[in-house]
Amino acid sequence: MRLLVTGAAGQLGHDVAAAARAAGDEVVGLAHAQLDVTDRDAVLGAITTWRPDAVAHCAAWTAVDACEGDPGRAFTANALAVRHVVEACDRVGAHLVHLSTDYVFDGEQRRPYREWDEPAPRSVYGASKLAGEREALALGPRAAIVRTSWVCGEHGGNVVRTVLRSARDKVDQHGALAFVDDQRGHPTFTADLGPLVRRLALDRRSGIIHATNQGEVTWYGFVQQVLAAAGYPTSMVRPISTAELDPPRPAPRPANSVLDNAVLAASGIPLLREFRQPLGELVAVLGHARPSQNGISGRP
Ligand SMILES: NC(=O)c1ccc[n+]([C@@H]2O[C@H](COP(=O)([O-])OP(=O)(O)OC[C@H]3O[C@@H](n4cnc5c(N)ncnc54)[C@H](OP(=O)(O)O)[C@@H]3O)[C@@H](O)[C@H]2O)c1
Repeated sequence: MRLLVTGAAGQLGHDVAAAARAAGDEVVGLAHAQLDVTDRDAVLGAITTWRPDAVAHCAAWTAVDACEGDPGRAFTANALAVRHVVEACDRVGAHLVHLSTDYVFDGEQRRPYREWDEPAPRSVYGASKLAGEREALALGPRAAIVRTSWVCGEHGGNVVRTVLRSARDKVDQHGALAFVDDQRGHPTFTADLGPLVRRLALDRRSGIIHATNQGEVTWYGFVQQVLAAAGYPTSMVRPISTAELDPPRPAPRPANSVLDNAVLAASGIPLLREFRQPLGELVAVLGHARPSQNGISGRP
């Protein structure tokens, strides 16, 4: 397969490109500096010149709180850019795998969200990503929309990296970190999601697909797991409610971000692993090992 990856320096873009290369695909990975997806001429030029079999559109403006203050930029980067990618894919017959988010839901539902549940975004970021999904759907059966959640990878900023950095400085300080215990979801690791995105491109899958690692947890619970995986005491984190965040974050987050991977399960595609396995691997890659020999329990 010839695969073109946008946003290739981002967390997921990097690992989609790496997975495709490892599988023997011909890959062109274009970082933001090489391809600004809001530039229609540049997008048409890149895709019609290289004529890929598939495009993994991983580029997005993911700064959720900043999106709240600049809806124009958010919709240009996360929705209009998808129109350009769709137009270019249409010209060369390329399949599109477009990335989207749990933030398209309001999080009020009591059960996990399935692909057929009605989106109702509460943030500008979520609304811009939903608009991007609708742009992608214009490609009909030649597009898959992959909604994922709580993305963590080796290449980029994420909560695992942030927690490990803080923990190094604050080791032994009980309750030094505070994370919300009233927002729940599925942490997802690009080392696992990257190969799945590649497979969905190869199989030319269509429609909306929820794809996350398995295991439901709150942010507080997830940070406990991060600390445990790195051998820090889990008492370093204390639970707070969203209402206690000071200052409050500009963009509201869904309380329930849990995505039921119903389509994958019904399609015979193996679900991604329980999140603690790739978490342990990422913690090791980031230079932390689980010290089972030093007396720290390693479990919350
Ligand atoms: N991160 C999450 O927790 C999360 C959760 C659910 C869904 N998603 C979705 O998953 C996908 C991948 O996210 P990620 O975690 O890999 O995000 P990421 O690490 O922020 O990567 C996104 C990449 O897109 C690039 N980009 C931004 N604007 C661009 C533009 N106009 N043209 C070209 N590239 C541009 C960014 O480059 P610069 O940094 O240089 O601007 C960055 O390298 C996105 O669609 C995101 O919406 C992410």
